[in-house]
Amino acid sequence: MKRPPLKLGPYRIENRVFIAPMAGVTDRPFRQLCKRLGADYAVGEMAASNALLWATEKTSRRVNHDGEPSPKAVQIAGADPAMLAQATRFNILRGAEVIDINMGCPAKKVCHKAAGSALLQDEALVAEILRQVVGSAREVAGDRVPVTLKIRTGWDHSHRNAPRIARLAEELGIAMLTVHGRTREDKFMGEAEYDTIAEVKSAVGIPVVANGDITTAERAAAVLAHTGADAVMIGRAAQGRPWISRHIHHFLETGQHLPDPTEASVRQWLRDHLLDHYAFYGEAGGVRSARKHIGWYLRGLPGSKTLRQLILAAETPQAQLAQVDAFFEDALAA
Ligand SMILES: Cc1cc2nc3c(=O)[nH]c(=O)nc-3n(C[C@H](O)[C@H](O)[C@H](O)COP(=O)(O)O)c2cc1C
Repeated sequence: MKRPPLKLGPYRIENRVFIAPMAGVTDRPFRQLCKRLGADYAVGEMAASNALLWATEKTSRRVNHDGEPSPKAVQIAGADPAMLAQATRFNILRGAEVIDINMGCPAKKVCHKAAGSALLQDEALVAEILRQVVGSAREVAGDRVPVTLKIRTGWDHSHRNAPRIARLAEELGIAMLTVHGRTREDKFMGEAEYDTIAEVKSAVGIPVVANGDITTAERAAAVLAHTGADAVMIGRAAQGRPWISRHIHHFLETGQHLPDPTEASVRQWLRDHLLDHYAFYGEAGGVRSARKHIGWYLRGLPGSKTLRQLILAAETPQAQLAQVDAFFEDALAA
């Protein structure tokens, strides 16, 4: 069924299959490739709200959106409302077009500082963060830069307070809400549940995005039907599959599957991805951090284990690319 574009502040988003923020994965090269291959919305990796870290290479890479098609969505994480407000200002002045607040991450590093999904336990603090971040965005950019929020369903199975947080968020000016269908306690275990997302959707008027374990077009359609959500967000299933958003979108609109991409196309996209990745991270660091992406692209492709090992062992961009080429030539000849 063809739907009108989703409105987010001044943006109109045609493709309602979003790419989730994933630290260490959805960096600028990956987001840019996803957008080139049909995604309209992809959120950057979470960036620390602590100003002391902004000058570090890691954080400045994470908030780098140079050349990426709009809207450029920057995710911020932290627990201190004033720091988050400052991070909002900093990122908007550097070109962020959407500010996303992370209250969904169970990672220790974030939760140590009681940030991420641990915040869901403290609704007064959530309210203060939302008030200050929305206030800061409005002060710097009027209504040009919407603020969005990403949460889990609650902190454990007896405290699924996402619908209450959602109402609070709407009241305080949040423009769109993403809900991962797990509690903080679940981490990544068990299956995502979508009943709470349906409750959230019926509790608010702002767009709601359903997330968690959506790996196929059929699943996306079922989750949209079950929850009434306005969009879906794909995380792990997008790893090594930057084309997934267009494929699922096509199915949602037409009920028909696009053919799987050919191995020749996958090879070309992986090469493009790698070249951009090396340029972004530098050769030595780039070769190392590219390995996981290569592993994901090759998942499910026929090909010898040995070649796979050789790719993962390569130490220079030239050697890594040569091994990737050898792998695909082998696979294409098979
Ligand atoms: C490697 C990895 C890194 C992640 N980093 C972030 C992050 O930086 N910010 C965030 O809000 N969620 C993060 N998440 C959670 C995802 O955005 C998403 O909510 C979760 O993976 C569930 O969706 P999926 O089942 O489609 O993967 C991360 C998940 C993974 C697997």
